[in-house]
Amino acid sequence: MEDGAEFFSGHNLRVGFYDLLFGRASNLIGEMDFYRDFTAGAGSVLEAACGSGRLFPALGAADRLLVGFDASLELLQQARTHYGSDASLGRPLLCAQRMENFAFGHHFERIIVGYYGLSYVLDAEGRRSFMQRIADHLTPEGQAVLHLPDADLLRRAVPQSEIDAQRGSLVLKSEIPDFTGRLAYQTTDSRVEGNGAIHVTELTFALLDESGTTLREETAAMHYAILDRQDIEALAASAGLRLVESLSGFTEDNESELIVTLVPA
Ligand SMILES: C[S@@+](CC[C@H](N)C(=O)[O-])C[C@H]1O[C@@H](n2cnc3c(N)ncnc32)[C@H](O)[C@@H]1O
Repeated sequence: MEDGAEFFSGHNLRVGFYDLLFGRASNLIGEMDFYRDFTAGAGSVLEAACGSGRLFPALGAADRLLVGFDASLELLQQARTHYGSDASLGRPLLCAQRMENFAFGHHFERIIVGYYGLSYVLDAEGRRSFMQRIADHLTPEGQAVLHLPDADLLRRAVPQSEIDAQRGSLVLKSEIPDFTGRLAYQTTDSRVEGNGAIHVTELTFALLDESGTTLREETAAMHYAILDRQDIEALAASAGLRLVESLSGFTEDNESELIVTLVPA
């Protein structure tokens, strides 16, 4: 079985430029306001699979305990560099752990599993264990939010014209000292495997200098477990949690996401 965390590890373009490549998608519009509202008034917040800490500005507060963990040492280092000593965010505490077996000697008022985090746990047993750990780490009045991609969008056969259109390049001006160039990205394949259980997106990333010469090129595959609302409800129930809210996007006109709020049953 593939490890969904693999895509986010190592010293490579997709990890080095994670926020730039993945943090600007239109389906994320509104997420910061959503998480600010979700954590308002909470004294303690845990973000599972926090990555680069991209969401920390919405999750942290000077008088709040904010803890984040992730499997990627490289993304954790980015989070540490950008936010680790930020007193206005409560100096977030960071550590390397996996969703399947994370453990803290603490209960949290809010737990966030943002931007498709659960989807990268590709095996059912790992997801059950993760959900149980969420339940075990919530205070009795606590709430957890999970953000996943819409299952029907992952299940459908993506037309080749749509795959071909998923490409672009980002201008690099200040990201690398004394370097001006572009970061190009392109989806090369999008398919469903594992009897309909896993969506695979193959991607290519390239770093080009000002003259357009390719300095570095990489390919990688992103694997998502395909999970719908019923799957999440069943998973939650097995861990003693219940679903109290479900949204299809962070804004009303967005229907590409599944955002669920869970509380102790
Ligand atoms: C799409 S990123 C989201 C990161 C961050 N939450 C955000 O909103 O930008 C998915 C994250 O899940 C992490 N991840 C994937 N599988 C994991 C696992 N089994 N345990 C812990 N982290 C994992 C990756 O390292 C990556 O940081």
